[in-house]
Amino acid sequence: MSLTLQNLRALEILDSRGRPTLAVEAWLSDGTRATAQVPSGASTGTHEANEKRDGGERYGGKGVREVAGTVASVFLPGLLGLSAEDQRALDARLIEIEGTANKSRYGANATLGISCAVARAVSASRREPLFRTLAVGPPLLPVPMINILSGGLHAGGNLEFQDFLIVPHGFPTLADALEATVRIHTTAGEILRRSGYALTGVADEGGWGPLLPSNEEAMFLLTIAIAEAGYLPGAQVSIALDVAATQFYREGKYHLASEGRELTSGQMVDLLARWCGSYPVISIEDGLAEDDWDGWAELTARLGSVQLVGDDLFTTNAARLRDGVRRKAANAVLVKMNQIGTLTETLDVCALAREIGYSAVVSARSGETEDSFLADLAVASGAGQIKIGSVTRSERLAKYNRLLELEAWEGLAFPRYDGNR
Ligand code: PGA
Ligand code: ZN
Repeated sequence: MSLTLQNLRALEILDSRGRPTLAVEAWLSDGTRATAQVPSGASTGTHEANEKRDGGERYGGKGVREVAGTVASVFLPGLLGLSAEDQRALDARLIEIEGTANKSRYGANATLGISCAVARAVSASRREPLFRTLAVGPPLLPVPMINILSGGLHAGGNLEFQDFLIVPHGFPTLADALEATVRIHTTAGEILRRSGYALTGVADEGGWGPLLPSNEEAMFLLTIAIAEAGYLPGAQVSIALDVAATQFYREGKYHLASEGRELTSGQMVDLLARWCGSYPVISIEDGLAEDDWDGWAELTARLGSVQLVGDDLFTTNAARLRDGVRRKAANAVLVKMNQIGTLTETLDVCALAREIGYSAVVSARSGETEDSFLADLAVASGAGQIKIGSVTRSERLAKYNRLLELEAWEGLAFPRYDGNR
C-alpha cells in the first residue's frame, strides 16, 4: 500500500539561542506522525536561501507564527495525497509551490521543515532508522570537526576568526574520538583560566569564547591543549578552522579589528599558509569572503593540499559549486540543509561534490534544536565528515549522541581520515 501525505501542521518553537524557529509535523496515510525542527544560522552567507520571519513586534520581528501558518494554508493543499516515499517528487512540488529561486516568498525554513518531517515520518512508518530512509549509497559514519575555541559572531566579536576546531581522526571508534574531544575541551578551559584569560561561559556552539590578544593565540592555545590532554597534534588530533571571513570583509580588506590591522586577500593567504606550516591544520573553511573569487583561486592554488571548504562561498548551492569548479576555488563544500531548503537539493549537492572530486562536510547551524536529524543525514550522505559544534550543549549532543547510537547499535564503522587529499 502506498504511503501518502495526509496532513501537515507547524509550530513556532525556540532554537538554542532562544530565537523562534519552526517545528513541522507530517501525518501519513497509515496514521504515522513525525516532526522535524529547523535550524538557523547567524553568520549567514548572502547567497543562502531565504529564512522567512514574520516581522512586527514579536521577538523583534523574528517570530515565525505566520510562517508556520503557511505550512497548512499554502503548502498542504498542493502536497496532499502525494507519495511520501518519493522525496524527490515531493521536494520538487515544494519548490514549485514556494515559487522563487532563493525561497524568498514563503521561506526555506518552511520548505525544509516539511521536507524533513515527511522523511522522518516515512522512516517511522517503515520502522527503520532514518539514515536508511535517506540513504543514497553505502552509509558512512562521519569524522567530526569540533569547535573548541569560538570567535566572530558566535562569541560576541572577541576574535575575528569564528571557529578553532579539532579533528580527532586517529581513533578506532567515534566513542574514543569523543572521549578525546571532551578531554581537550576541558584542558583548553583549564589552560585559558590558568593563563588569566577572562572566561565567562561558552559561545553559541559550546566552544570557549575567550578574550585573546590575537587570532593566532587561539591556534597556539589549541595546539597546546591537544598535547597537554595527552594526544599527538597532527597524528591523532589535527586542527580545522572556520575563518568565516565574509563577516569581517569590507571594501576589499579583511579587518582584524582585535589586532588593529587590515589584510588584503593575498596577505590573508600568506597568513593562512604560515599557520599551516606552524600548526597541524588540515582544513580551512571560508578562509576568504563569499565573493572574493580571485582570492579563493589564489588560496586554492597555494594551499590545495589542505581541505579548503566553501560555506558562505557555496551556500549548499549546486550552481555556485559548479562556479567554484570552473574558477578552481576551494576543494570541499560545507553542506547545510537550510542554506538550500529541501532534502533533495541537499543530497544533490553531496552527490555533485563526489562527482567533481570535492569533499563534503555536513554541518549544523549556530542556532540549533534538539533534533538529531543531521546525524542521520550525515551518515546517509556518505560525506564522511560532520561539523556540529562543541560537546557541551544539548542541541549539539543530540547529534553526537545519535551518532554514538548508530555506531554502537547499527554497527557502522568509524572511518580513518587524516585530511590528506
Ligand atoms: P552559522 O555558523 O550557522 O552561524 O552560519 C556556522 C558556520 O559558519 O559554519
Ligand atoms: Zn562556516
